[in-house]
Amino acid sequence: MTDVLGNPPPPSDSLAVLEKQRSTAETFGIPLAVLLEITHRCPLQCPYCSNPVELDRSTKELTTDEWKKVLGELAEIGVLQVHFSGGEPTARKDLVELVRHASDVGLYTNLITSAVLLTRAKLGELADAGLCHVQISFQGIEEGLTDRVAGYKGGHRKKLEVAKWTRELDLPLTVNAVMHRQNLHQLPEIIQMAVDLDADRLEVANVQYYGWALKNRAALMPTVAQLDECTRLVEEARERLKGTLAIDYVVPDYYALRPKKCMGGWGRQFFNISPAGKVLPCHAAESITGLEFESVRSNHSIAWIWQNSEAFNRYRGTGWMKEPCKSCEFREIDFGGCRCQAYALTGDAANTDPACALSPLHETIFKQAEAEAEGETNRFLYRNFAGGTLESENGA
Ligand code: SF4
Ligand code: FES
Repeated sequence: MTDVLGNPPPPSDSLAVLEKQRSTAETFGIPLAVLLEITHRCPLQCPYCSNPVELDRSTKELTTDEWKKVLGELAEIGVLQVHFSGGEPTARKDLVELVRHASDVGLYTNLITSAVLLTRAKLGELADAGLCHVQISFQGIEEGLTDRVAGYKGGHRKKLEVAKWTRELDLPLTVNAVMHRQNLHQLPEIIQMAVDLDADRLEVANVQYYGWALKNRAALMPTVAQLDECTRLVEEARERLKGTLAIDYVVPDYYALRPKKCMGGWGRQFFNISPAGKVLPCHAAESITGLEFESVRSNHSIAWIWQNSEAFNRYRGTGWMKEPCKSCEFREIDFGGCRCQAYALTGDAANTDPACALSPLHETIFKQAEAEAEGETNRFLYRNFAGGTLESENGA
């Protein structure tokens, strides 16, 4: 029996002991798509960046040959799709070579980009090298706000240009819009922009609060009223634009009653590889101290790391859970929510994610979110290699 995503059911508690005695490979097949964070370098400084606060310097990045070896290995073990991401993946001079290699070994390739470093010629080279899909992030609908959120001047116009070139090259386009208190009022225009750009898909992704976003939570958290309006607008647009634009919607789970099934459950459907070659159960996993993550530079294969490494097995399935998750009817539906959020907010990644209404901390974080959303803090702490720079009072 499989779930709606085609995954076999996870082991119940009573099977956990038996499960430990055999290879997890039988239960947890290799994910079909893998996120490759090929660099943490980026000209933008978004205050909600999903990269860790401790960024990998360029000197630690995998070399071209190392990434090529990774791509070959991924194709060999059954991965079908790779997302080239960052930081900003186009900051790597070898991106065309990597895309060509991925294509040569049979992988479907997606470029997740801020677009500001791309030229028409470079995008053409990437398309010729076999790039299959482009996803461009937008910070809003006009230059004043987008420049301020990204901490970068002139980016919005460039993004619109690159989106146009993407469609001229006949590549499918996804518009990614990260939403928060300071740009949610622009959602109707963002939806229209995605239609005008002839995008296939729009991701309306409310900020998730780990890493940089957690540091900026007070400046980003939407009000309950804003979120309700956002949900209404997305539902209305989904109906109106059926067949024209697909819309994915991610809500900020502080305001939810049940947590999200983060990453489809730890070590069940997803892994990513960091610029320095660490194989991680999620992009924020390194924020959990005390876990050792294996590298593609080690003697282990990627398949071995996925199946057998301690970090992937620590929070797999349900055997690691404490109450209230341990005896909860939803434990094999949401897998206790997000391990990184549980760690960030409670200091123990094995605790119930406080986004869950059954967590003893839920009420506290809900009230905190409401208070921050109504508060006066609007200045951003910009993401950079120096550990962050606070926006000046006049917003420059
Ligand atoms: Fe999910 Fe745990 Fe909350 Fe139950 S108690 S709904 S398993 S997070
Ligand atoms: Fe790491 Fe949710 S972001 S488990």
